[in-house]
Amino acid sequence: MISAADIEGLFGPQLSRIRDEALRRKVVDVYVDACARGGWHDVEDLRRIPFTLLTKCHGVSYAEHVVAVTEGALGLAEAMERACRRLPFAIDHDRLVAGGLLHDVGKLLEFESDGAGGCRKSRAGRCARHPISGAILAGRHGLPDEIVNIIACHAKEGDGRPQVVETVLVHQADFATFDPLVMKNDGRLIE
Ligand SMILES: [Fe+2]
Repeated sequence: MISAADIEGLFGPQLSRIRDEALRRKVVDVYVDACARGGWHDVEDLRRIPFTLLTKCHGVSYAEHVVAVTEGALGLAEAMERACRRLPFAIDHDRLVAGGLLHDVGKLLEFESDGAGGCRKSRAGRCARHPISGAILAGRHGLPDEIVNIIACHAKEGDGRPQVVETVLVHQADFATFDPLVMKNDGRLIE
């Protein structure tokens, strides 16, 4: 079983950026629940499985991706706050970090182990992609609607939809990690 302590070990530096203790605990609870429901029993799996099945990941793991997206979204927020004398919208950092950590949690339900060290799309994943399953799980654990928006709308499901600003930041950080891989794999990335 993957425990709260395992998740705190995996995402400790990011979790420590969430000031609201109850929110931090809920983020961990959602992860523990997602791992149990998805059949993931060893936290090392999260450090090993690819972060997407849509393109070749070149070894970038689920956990690395989640950290990169969370830190990337935070970096975008801090850059705007530093550069702009008056930012015309407020960015909630607790919401941003919690949403960054949880944006892909539904992948732990969308993917399953293939029994040979890799993973494949699960039946649950065929029924609902990770933005949907992750949003449902977060709602069940009482995460605020705005964090449900980040999870539900960070990918194509959110195109053209109302979004909190933190969703926009997580989306941009997410695609900054994804698009170059797709381009590398189809020969469009100039290296
Ligand atoms: Fe992602």
